[in-house]
Amino acid sequence: MNPSFLPSRRKVLQGLGAAAAATAFPRYAYAADPLKIGLILPMTGPFASTGRQITAACKLYLQTHGDSVAGRKVELIIKDDTGLAPETTKRIAQEMVVQDRITVLAGFGLTPLAFAAAPVATEAKVPMIVMAAGTEVIPQRSPFIVRTGFTLPQNTAPVALWAAQNNIKRVFSLVTDYAPGHDSEKTFVNRFKAAGGTIIEAVRTPLRNPDYAPFLQRAKDSKADALFVFVPSGEGLAVMKQFEERGLKQTGMKMIGPGDVVDDDILVSIGAPAVGVITSMHYSAAHDSPENKAYVAAMTKANPGMRPNFHSVGGWDGMHLIYEAVKKQPNGNGQQLVEAMKGMKWTSPRGPMMIDPATRDVIQNVYLRETRMVNGEPWNIEFAKFENVKPSGDL
Ligand code: DHB
Repeated sequence: MNPSFLPSRRKVLQGLGAAAAATAFPRYAYAADPLKIGLILPMTGPFASTGRQITAACKLYLQTHGDSVAGRKVELIIKDDTGLAPETTKRIAQEMVVQDRITVLAGFGLTPLAFAAAPVATEAKVPMIVMAAGTEVIPQRSPFIVRTGFTLPQNTAPVALWAAQNNIKRVFSLVTDYAPGHDSEKTFVNRFKAAGGTIIEAVRTPLRNPDYAPFLQRAKDSKADALFVFVPSGEGLAVMKQFEERGLKQTGMKMIGPGDVVDDDILVSIGAPAVGVITSMHYSAAHDSPENKAYVAAMTKANPGMRPNFHSVGGWDGMHLIYEAVKKQPNGNGQQLVEAMKGMKWTSPRGPMMIDPATRDVIQNVYLRETRMVNGEPWNIEFAKFENVKPSGDL
């Protein structure tokens, strides 16, 4: 069955009239066609920081690399899906295809939103660049999906190994109760147990209006060696506040997890309570490379008061992927652009990365980090590296 938007797209095409109909060339054969990138992101609501970070990075990419590529003018069309309404994301994706006639869909702040848009990409045959959402299975939902962010298994496996090798024997696990939380919990529990560790309890907190206090009290009462935490970007402040207020750190309990809980966007606001947290992650604003120093300086200059986080590099690298694919296929259709993206390799502010041609997913280095005070501000300082980690988290 064709979804309802397809007939209207046809009508739009008919509406273009004789000029379009008279030519034997498909509409994408005009070199002057603008390259329209439809960014769908949470710009309001609890996950607005994801939209703010990715938008800032995409705009910076345009400023620094020019607003045209391969002779095509680049247009960013940014729409807010509020973060918690998959049907809104889907509707916006359909409108972008039919009305805005976008070349590429991009953004996708949370997994349920990426799931909702995937069938639209498939039907419309447009590339869908997932810049933020991190559930491993996402690229399997459409052959047009390519991911430039990360997966939760990728960012969880290294810290599971670190915990087992660093005298942590009993862990209390807390994750947000939706697909990336389940991915993260599964990866941690399986790998930590396989390495000899014990999981005392694994709890899940709601995505909407979570109250972490009762869960952190239970964690405290469990007397675990460590608290494993995954919450999506934006939620870390509330978790760290409860961790601090309930005095978990003072009991000697370590906080560990993928790096979302000590997200660079909120790390300065969290402040001293974050010191000592051990995480694994593909990006830290403190990553020591010339590319990252230039990136952080440019982002900070263009957005005073903002420290770029891991979602921002998902946006930055998504733009890179689109620009480079269009350079290879200046007038390419959706399928040709996706083909051009497969196997692409480059040096990101995060370090080296590539798009796995088989899964259209990201393969990248993942770093172990400790949150430390440097010159009076907390930073996630990388101290070990796992190279070329696959989306499955296999090390
Ligand atoms: C997802 C969103 C996040 O902000 C994050 O940090 C990790 C995962 C997600 O919904 O997939």
